[in-house]
Amino acid sequence: MQTSRETYVHALGYHWLDRLYDPLIRVSMREMAFKRRLVEQAGIQPGHRVLDLGCGTATLTLLAKQMHPEAVLTGLDGDPRILQIAAGKISRAGLDVQLDCGMSFDLPYPDGSFDRVLTCLMLHHLTRADKVRTLLEVLRTLQPDGELHIADWGKPASRWARVASRLVGKLDGVERLEDNLKGRLPILLQETGYVRVRQAGEFATILGTLSFCSGAKPQ
Ligand SMILES: C[S@@+](CC[C@H](N)C(=O)[O-])C[C@H]1O[C@@H](n2cnc3c(N)ncnc32)[C@H](O)[C@@H]1O
Repeated sequence: MQTSRETYVHALGYHWLDRLYDPLIRVSMREMAFKRRLVEQAGIQPGHRVLDLGCGTATLTLLAKQMHPEAVLTGLDGDPRILQIAAGKISRAGLDVQLDCGMSFDLPYPDGSFDRVLTCLMLHHLTRADKVRTLLEVLRTLQPDGELHIADWGKPASRWARVASRLVGKLDGVERLEDNLKGRLPILLQETGYVRVRQAGEFATILGTLSFCSGAKPQ
């Protein structure tokens, strides 16, 4: 089987850009606005176990914990170096958040571990095969009726968004982006067994159009 680690795409494509990730996303994408919207969409309840899949520098993980202090938050990423940045932020915030290193398509958790899985700007890093493996793995680790909530690149909603998506394609790979830009993530959710699949709107950024969607594990 292809290991897929050989074709791993880091946060901004290259390790030397890691330290620039937070400032770049903050100024270019109105980051806190769309991450807040994703957390609100997820309907997290007190006591929920929540996974931030492909957490990167853990901005979303921390925001979810701040908005829902009684939820149990875990962030997972495949890149140990980006997790060092995340660990520093978590320690400075003084919040109780677990960080794990692992691959999205081979999650180190037992079946039914989470009530909610959030994933932001991660799925477009994956090949179609790894997107499918990841969606199946998330389904396994969700509780029955648990939900996956996604914010990621979607169909460009303007001519500018189409141009900007070429820059993202250069960093992260044109073929990996294709399913996103063609609006196929909800179809992949349906094909992998999710129910209540829903497109939940768009968000314009200067780097392209973000699309929100969600699906649930059958009861
Ligand atoms: C563009 S960054 C997004 C980080 C964060 N979710 C955010 O919204 O700022 C994508 C992250 O996904 C991680 N990643 C890529 N492929 C992965 C995989 N197969 N499993 C786990 N993490 C992965 C990268 O290391 C990177 O930190």
